[in-house]
Amino acid sequence: MVGWILKKILGSKNQRELKRLMPIVHRTNEFDEQFKSLSDEALRAKTAIWKEELAQIPELEDQWKRLDEILPEAFAVVKNAARRLKDRQDTFTVCDQPMKWDMVHFDVQLLGGIVLHRGRIAEMATGEGKTLVATLPLYLNALTGRGVHLVTVNDYLARRDAEWMGRLYDFLGLTVGCIQHDQEPDFRREQYAMDITYGTNSEFGFDYLRDNGMATTREQQVQRGYYYAIVDEVDSILIDEARTPLIISGPATISTHQYDKWKPLIEQLVRKQNMLCNRLASEALEKFEQGDVETGGRLMFKVKLGQPRNKQLLRMMEDPDKRRAVDKAELSFYQDTRKEELFALKEELFFTIDEKSNESDLSEQGRNFLNPDDPNAFVLPDLINEFTEIDLDPSLSQEEKDKRKAERQQHCDAQAERIHNISQLLRAYCLFEKDVQYVIEENKVVIVDEFTGRKMPGRRWSDGLHQAVEAKEGVQIDRETQTLATITIQNYFRLYQKLAGMTGTAETEAAEFHDIYKLDVNVIPTNRPVARKDHNDRIYKTRREKYSAVINEIRDCHTREQPVLVGTVSVEASELLSRMLKREKIPHNVLNAKFHMQEAEIVSRAGQPGTVTISTNMAGRGTDIKLGASVADRGGLFVIGTERHEARRIDRQLRGRCARQGDPGSSRFYVSFEDDLMRNFGAADRMTRIMERFGLEEGQELEHRWLNKSVETAQKRVEQRNYLIRKRTLDFDDVMNMQREVVYTYRNETIESEEPRTLIYEVIDEAVPAKVQEYLAAERDEEPNYTGFLNWVNTTFPLGLTKEKAQFETRTVDENAQFLIGKIKDAYERKSSHEEPSAVKSLERYIILNAIDRLWQEHLYAMDALREGVYLRGYAQKDPLIEYKTEAYDMFVELMANIKNEVLHNLFRSTSNLQAFENFLATLPQFLMREHAPTAPTANAPARGRQLQPVGAMAAVGEDGDGAGEMTLDLPIRRSMPKVGRNEPCPCGSGKKYKNCCGRVA
Ligand SMILES: Nc1ncnc2c1ncn2[C@@H]1O[C@H](COP(=O)(O)OP(=O)(O)OP(=O)(O)O)[C@@H](O)[C@H]1O
Ligand SMILES: [Mg+2]
Repeated sequence: MVGWILKKILGSKNQRELKRLMPIVHRTNEFDEQFKSLSDEALRAKTAIWKEELAQIPELEDQWKRLDEILPEAFAVVKNAARRLKDRQDTFTVCDQPMKWDMVHFDVQLLGGIVLHRGRIAEMATGEGKTLVATLPLYLNALTGRGVHLVTVNDYLARRDAEWMGRLYDFLGLTVGCIQHDQEPDFRREQYAMDITYGTNSEFGFDYLRDNGMATTREQQVQRGYYYAIVDEVDSILIDEARTPLIISGPATISTHQYDKWKPLIEQLVRKQNMLCNRLASEALEKFEQGDVETGGRLMFKVKLGQPRNKQLLRMMEDPDKRRAVDKAELSFYQDTRKEELFALKEELFFTIDEKSNESDLSEQGRNFLNPDDPNAFVLPDLINEFTEIDLDPSLSQEEKDKRKAERQQHCDAQAERIHNISQLLRAYCLFEKDVQYVIEENKVVIVDEFTGRKMPGRRWSDGLHQAVEAKEGVQIDRETQTLATITIQNYFRLYQKLAGMTGTAETEAAEFHDIYKLDVNVIPTNRPVARKDHNDRIYKTRREKYSAVINEIRDCHTREQPVLVGTVSVEASELLSRMLKREKIPHNVLNAKFHMQEAEIVSRAGQPGTVTISTNMAGRGTDIKLGASVADRGGLFVIGTERHEARRIDRQLRGRCARQGDPGSSRFYVSFEDDLMRNFGAADRMTRIMERFGLEEGQELEHRWLNKSVETAQKRVEQRNYLIRKRTLDFDDVMNMQREVVYTYRNETIESEEPRTLIYEVIDEAVPAKVQEYLAAERDEEPNYTGFLNWVNTTFPLGLTKEKAQFETRTVDENAQFLIGKIKDAYERKSSHEEPSAVKSLERYIILNAIDRLWQEHLYAMDALREGVYLRGYAQKDPLIEYKTEAYDMFVELMANIKNEVLHNLFRSTSNLQAFENFLATLPQFLMREHAPTAPTANAPARGRQLQPVGAMAAVGEDGDGAGEMTLDLPIRRSMPKVGRNEPCPCGSGKKYKNCCGRVA
């Protein structure tokens, strides 16, 4: 058995790697043999013994060593338990359906388990039983007691797999939890506390964000660390899903967009451009007829620049001669020597739009149309030049210079906003099609994932694009949202100490897995030889011809009762096919990956005789398609792809849906020259030549294995480009990621600190000297700013220092810092001595958390803006990433300083208990109340929200109790208390519920 498995393994490196693992597989089987004689109890007892032993090992590294040692034995325990369940025909329920246990791990599954344990990706074909494979490493790693996670693509699969495999874990004495979308925090915490937890990537990710970015006490957090995760369908999660980050957002306080305002003009502009392009296309046609191929090609190229989806253009592209003429024109214009000509060509249009890079650009004409009075309103001013000019102007005072610069900056921001709005609207009109990239549902724009064809309600395009599309469709433009917390999927999974993945298709993306996640791929051979027959692609001139060929094929299958699974790349295509089938009266099911559970059920029946199932490529993934009676004799399941996907991986995935576990099956893809992939990245030249040679007639097709290669070349090109885009997104997010780590660590330290006062004192120790430096360390010809400094001291701390008392001039900078730090800490000790100690602790934590959260959110907002901004700077020939990094760093340094200053600022303005605060004030020698002090709410009034509330006036704490009060400070005191739910414990530490303590309504 083992010998022939090895012979099947392709690729020598992979082969060598797997060969080295085979002895472990043998040893596992030996143990399994031995364990057969054990009683259930004795087998189960091993779990507890290992758990106890591993709990004694403090270091993770050492635990891992031990896990490697016990691996064969532990895997054997799992396999043995599986056999016992099978022998007993154990029945239980999974997702409310009865289920019988009928699996014992195959050797290839043991192999896959070892690969997963080693933190790698196991590529195992569809239907090879990856669900069962995962039980091995999950069991082994859960023995550490650290909590292991299995990540699935949807809630249904999480629940199905947790309940299904749960039977085995349960038998072995391990607990299993499952995270679902609608669970309350308490329940989630319990699920995470289990030995093994199943859930989707977004639930895991959002829980991380809530725990680290929003929870204010340890009790509110639900997760317990990131030790080991296995990601199922790893390509889908780490590559496809990774393109949209997880974002928790709230409505932004201000909205600045002007989409409404620009929409009518842009609509006109787009119409004008379309008319222009239609005219150009007709001209091109004339030129071709007159034999002037070069001019014709040039004109068509122009249409391509201005309206890539122009109908006439698309039709002309079907003609090999014309197609070649355009390609030639395009190639020649992109030569460096013709840059100016290209520019001139673009200027003849109103705007240009690039389908590949998704970018749009207004020309002079376009700008004139939008604002005839001031076409420059859409040009970004060269700020650096302007600033230099201002700086060099001798007639201006420093003050005037600053003022002018600020004006220019403001002007520039306004321009940038306008340009941004317009370019997003152009994209919305020219590149985003209803029912392809999005659908309208209940008056909302819902994104359709182009990879999976799945609708993604709740997700929004960033950067204002979503609003632009909303404006275009005339639906309610939702307010811009403010990011409260965000993380990319990539960075979430990088948190894990050990990460592994499994999927049917990883090989084509091996380089990306390696570079970004340090995950290597091992291809595990199938348990039985694959009997699938992959036919050559069939290529047609037009979509129409392609679809009618597909329908013919489906009809043939249907007549001979062979089941067909038809894969599409979009919801639109699925619906089109469905309409065509209805006309033909062929019964069928359509799946759009919307109702996971129902669709799983439909897919599971897709192998019955005569069934026709149309499915976008994500729908029903992870569900087994078993062949119905006598289907094997009819050739098994037939898979039809109606379009080649951008990524080869997705096509492989679709093919893999048939011929599982050695079943018969076959697949074929249908392609047309009108498909996006072919238009944008097709090896157009080569194809055109071939098309010419064969002289294609209407409805005729091309089919040859060379053509498959051409299609694949196109796919490889797109894959490469998409990888670069993802990499770039990640490069940007890496900057954020480092910052997020620092901030979240600080936050968690605060939440967990038993003595938050030390954190407060750290802030004093760091921030005060910095301030002293700022004011008093005079540089060269500057004077130390004693007055300014005294002012800062007195507005921040209730020290009541006077010039005479402070005597700053008599000390060095360092001495002043030390002097002040002493005074502040003294005063602080005195203030808090009047309050309940545990309440003071909550308050101290809260002061820091509040400062972090408020400023971090502002920072996120600013970072978003920066990210947008640096792209605009791209015009000025700078690398946006470098610009972004430098500025992000400066902003972050400022953020950290601001957080500290805010903590200082609120230190004496916050109280856990108004009464205590008044007691404190009463002990002061003199208590100066501002005459029109805002009225203080009563101490019993519940703190509302997290807004700081002014409750009185800050008093001057007399210096050493004498002669204080020379200065009256008219700053409001704020009560800054966390938002407390009425049933939560009171933050004063009394142990009572808030509503029965400080929150009691008088
Ligand atoms: N060792 C085994 N013995 C018998 N049947 C098995 C075994 N392993 C898995 N199976 C069966 O194979 C089928 C497919 O399993 P599973 O859904 O886990 O495959 P998969 O590799 O996850 O496929 P997909 O790529 O579609 O997610 C299931 O019906 C399962 O019961
Ligand atoms: Mg699966």
